[in-house]
Amino acid sequence: MIYFVTSNKGKFAEASAIFPDLVQKNIGYTEIQADTLEEVAAFGMKEVLQRLRGPVMLEDAGLFIEALHGFPGVYSAYVQKTIGNNGILRLMDGLENRNAFFKSVVSYAEPGQEPRMFQGCVHGIIGSEARGKKGFGYDPIFYVGRASLGEMEIPEKNRISHRAISMHGLKSWLEGRK
Ligand code: IMP
Repeated sequence: MIYFVTSNKGKFAEASAIFPDLVQKNIGYTEIQADTLEEVAAFGMKEVLQRLRGPVMLEDAGLFIEALHGFPGVYSAYVQKTIGNNGILRLMDGLENRNAFFKSVVSYAEPGQEPRMFQGCVHGIIGSEARGKKGFGYDPIFYVGRASLGEMEIPEKNRISHRAISMHGLKSWLEGRK
């Protein structure tokens, strides 16, 4: 059993397809303002470990848009809450370079051991319109091939996603230790 500290149902559903024995802990932690997802995850884990024992993981993710010099990046949650997908589409209006990537950083810790980090990225493009209602967050505007992540069922998204890559990294490491 592993605790996954998140309030995001979409993240939990995707992670559960990779770790069947996952338990959601909706306890919240401080997401510091920092330059990297790694710093946000490391700080969050320190805080979580003061309240929770046992194998525990948390994840910090972000969308990095090339033409916007990596924006919204570490500010992805705030930007999603404020201007949202329509705001991003407007910012991208007329821009030819639509390249973007999602990055996921997973932090994992067990009692008495230093936390470890695993990361994953998926490259795609910001489309010209939002499509699909299956995912969450930026999924409807992020396209890999012809489909947006919002049009994909979880197994399909999990074949390519940043989160699936970072979590499979953790899973392989755990299995390699056995
Ligand atoms: P956080 O990892 O919860 O801080 O996520 C940052 C922001 O990126 C939130 O607004 C999420 O909704 C969004 N986000 C994180 N992962 C994904 C994803 O897999 N697809 C779409 N949006 C995501």
